[in-house]
Amino acid sequence: MNAVPTAVQTQPAAPTPTGSETPRPAAAPKPGLLSAESAAVVAATAPAVAAHAEEITALFYPSMFASHPELLRIFNQGNQATGEQSRALAASVVAYAVALIDPDAPSFEHVMRRIAHKHVSLGIRPEQYTIVGHHLLGAVAEVLGDAVTPEVADAWGEVYWLFAMQLGAEEARLYQQAGIRADDALRPYVVVRRIDEAHDIISLVLEPADGLPLPTTEPGQYVSVFVDLPDGERQPRQYTVSSTASGTRLQITVNRARGVDGAPDGRVSTHLHEGVRVGDRLDVSSPCGDFVVSDAAGPLLLASAGAGITTVLPIVEHIARTQPQRPVIVAHADRTARDHALRDTVLHVGRAIDSFTTYAWYEHVEPDDTRSASGYMDLRTIDLPADLQVFTCGPLPFMRHVRTTLLERGVPAEHIRYEVFGPDLWASQGEPPA
Ligand SMILES: Cc1cc2nc3c(=O)[nH]c(=O)nc-3n(C[C@H](O)[C@H](O)[C@H](O)COP(=O)(O)OP(=O)(O)OC[C@H]3O[C@@H](n4cnc5c(N)ncnc54)[C@H](O)[C@@H]3O)c2cc1C
Ligand code: HEM
Repeated sequence: MNAVPTAVQTQPAAPTPTGSETPRPAAAPKPGLLSAESAAVVAATAPAVAAHAEEITALFYPSMFASHPELLRIFNQGNQATGEQSRALAASVVAYAVALIDPDAPSFEHVMRRIAHKHVSLGIRPEQYTIVGHHLLGAVAEVLGDAVTPEVADAWGEVYWLFAMQLGAEEARLYQQAGIRADDALRPYVVVRRIDEAHDIISLVLEPADGLPLPTTEPGQYVSVFVDLPDGERQPRQYTVSSTASGTRLQITVNRARGVDGAPDGRVSTHLHEGVRVGDRLDVSSPCGDFVVSDAAGPLLLASAGAGITTVLPIVEHIARTQPQRPVIVAHADRTARDHALRDTVLHVGRAIDSFTTYAWYEHVEPDDTRSASGYMDLRTIDLPADLQVFTCGPLPFMRHVRTTLLERGVPAEHIRYEVFGPDLWASQGEPPA
């Protein structure tokens, strides 16, 4: 079934500047960076390392946490339990090595940028690369056993340190740009409001406790929020800055993660829902992330599902404030209208945009809802303007579906940007390009 557009208004839009949303290039691995001897050894051993990558990271993390238990407080233990972080780390190291030896390897820049932003949001320090390198290379030696001759160990050591240096340089640049130091990356914020947005979704409005101005936030960026859990553990999670409308406060919007099929409920989101009250303090990072709309380009399609809506509101706010002549299409999919958070706010803010069209798809549509479509998002038939820039956020299968449909409709791959609410396995496994 086709969606019925709930167009808030549409007047002919003024011509908009065109251009690309492609972000600033980051340093990238290139053939030639690795010494010739190491390149040959890495080429010969990369398949073995790739084949054992998960075994390697399965050894690496426990050994590193045993020697440095303080790191348990900065690594997301949910991602450790599901194995997602191990897979992302392993895939990124192998992809980096391939990019060092193969001139035709897919671009690695967006992976590099994503990791650097994530590291900066967590306050990762240059000296910690020595710890990670020691345990990671130790795990390679242990898993591959006799195959790790001194030459092989040296070659993979070189790969690791090239990667570390490039990441460290990008991170230094980001810390400098934010005007912070790695060991001073968090600021205390006070929860000043809690808003029930939808079923199992709340917003927390946060004000800097030090009374100083908010950091600059690009529309689409996230913060790392560190919480002290009731069991005494400390854990960070990332939350998109869902609004900065007030200018002195930032808002995060949190979906309560319920455990399914016997898995435990999400630790931090449950705590933010149940244990955090107005007046409480949270430690919050500077805004990070490169899923950011620039002022350069033409019409926008914001395609979200579930909690991915948190990236839509700040972008709509930004366009309404700075480029109201820029056409925006908002397409959202959710289980039901009750689950669709921020919907009214997005519609309200979108009224300030000259050409603003919204579509909604729900798995279950209420009988009296004549505006929304039932089922999964279907972008095959909606009107798409030329030179469209797409920002999509939601579960991976959803984003794959969006991307496939839009590619079939002729939207160039480089015009489709995406945000993953977890370690980005999609990119580090080589698909899709940025
Ligand atoms: C860039 C970015 C932006 C984000 N923005 C937002 C946002 O705006 N809003 C939002 O709500 N979220 C956002 N997230 C997701 C958020 O960071 C958290 O991942 C989310 O809140 C879940 O955290 P949690 O601590 O509640 O769950 P966790 O405890 O981390 O658990 C996560 C999942 O793993 C499962 N799990 C945990 N332990 C096990 C186990 N032992 N076995 C099997 N399964 C297990 C849980 O059931 C749950 O489904 C974002 C993430 C990123 C990376
Ligand atoms: C060359 C070395 C390193 C590589 C290749 C690497 C790679 C990665 C990757 C791929 C991710 C996932 C990014 C995403 O969200 O998509 C990540 C996240 C992370 N990294 Fe690194 N990293 C390195 C060094 C370090 C160091 C030195 C530390 C500090 C101890 C560190 C701590 C973290 C943490 C805490 C996360 C978030 C984990 C999570 O949310 O589950 N990393 N890193």
